[in-house]
Amino acid sequence: MKVLITGANGQLGYALQKTSNVFADHYALELIALTRAELNLSQVGSIINVLDGFLPDVIINAAAYTAVDKAEIETELAKIINADAVKQIAIWCQTHNKTLIHVSTDFVFDGKKSSPYDITDETNPIGIYGKTKQQGEAFALSECETAYVVRTGWVYGEHGANFVKTILRLASERENLGIVSDQIGTPTYALHLAEMIWQLILQKPPQKIWHFSDAGVASWYDFSVAIVNEAHSFGILVRKPIIKPIATLDYPTPAQRPAFSVLSKTNTWSNLNVAPVHWQAALIKMLSALKQA
Ligand SMILES: NC(=O)c1ccc[n+]([C@@H]2O[C@H](COP(=O)([O-])OP(=O)(O)OC[C@H]3O[C@@H](n4cnc5c(N)ncnc54)[C@H](OP(=O)(O)O)[C@@H]3O)[C@@H](O)[C@H]2O)c1
Repeated sequence: MKVLITGANGQLGYALQKTSNVFADHYALELIALTRAELNLSQVGSIINVLDGFLPDVIINAAAYTAVDKAEIETELAKIINADAVKQIAIWCQTHNKTLIHVSTDFVFDGKKSSPYDITDETNPIGIYGKTKQQGEAFALSECETAYVVRTGWVYGEHGANFVKTILRLASERENLGIVSDQIGTPTYALHLAEMIWQLILQKPPQKIWHFSDAGVASWYDFSVAIVNEAHSFGILVRKPIIKPIATLDYPTPAQRPAFSVLSKTNTWSNLNVAPVHWQAALIKMLSALKQA
């Protein structure tokens, strides 16, 4: 089976390549991992030609405009990459009867709930990034009968830029850190998300929308305290800064973020037979890999 990955240099793109054995252990796999230079989603008119050249059986769209704050200014570019390009990919998949796995975000929700978001909950994004991702989801599902949407949140891994790496850098530079404690979600180890996506391709279930993150709940403050403590015990950090919880109001950003974006995964764990891993255990796994790199 030919599987084409967009955004090959991103966190998820890298993790999908690293975990492709999950699929290759069962079926012959030809992996086509395309970087932005090889398939630029902002050049919407060229997408069909590139896909025609490779004729993949499955496309995993791991590419996205992910700069949440910058999206408030580069609105049109975010829409082109996160929505218009997805429409083209979905149309190509429908025309050729191929499968699309489109990756989306917890930011499609407004964060007003206080219990985990289910796949049946209504989306209502509060920022441009979330809005463009919501449009992308809608195009994937309306244009392609064999499309899946996988929503995730707070993604991090050894490869790429993410919150864990930022905290490790800040912790080595500063004595004190103030981290937001009133935004609640669940961190997702990119390798676990990638393994879930390979399971989806293997199992081809009828359900179209899936939620995935690691297990448990955290604020950014909780997450940063765990990062610093675990990194210190691993010897990655030689000393620990003092971390103070702060309110979102005291840390204004151009884009508004949902206050609560925990995704319900009970359905994923049971229907896809994916074992839940607590986010703290996943973090330890990532830091261990980071130390060995
Ligand atoms: N990161 C998170 O916390 C998070 C949370 C929720 C959902 N998600 C979703 O998860 C998916 C994977 O995210 P990630 O964490 O792997 O993001 P990432 O590390 O920022 O990677 C995004 C990738 O998209 C590529 N890209 C950007 N613009 C492109 C374009 N015009 N054409 C082709 N490729 C382009 C980037 O290319 P370059 O390498 O050249 O920059 C990068 O490789 C995305 O759909 C994202 O919306 C992420």
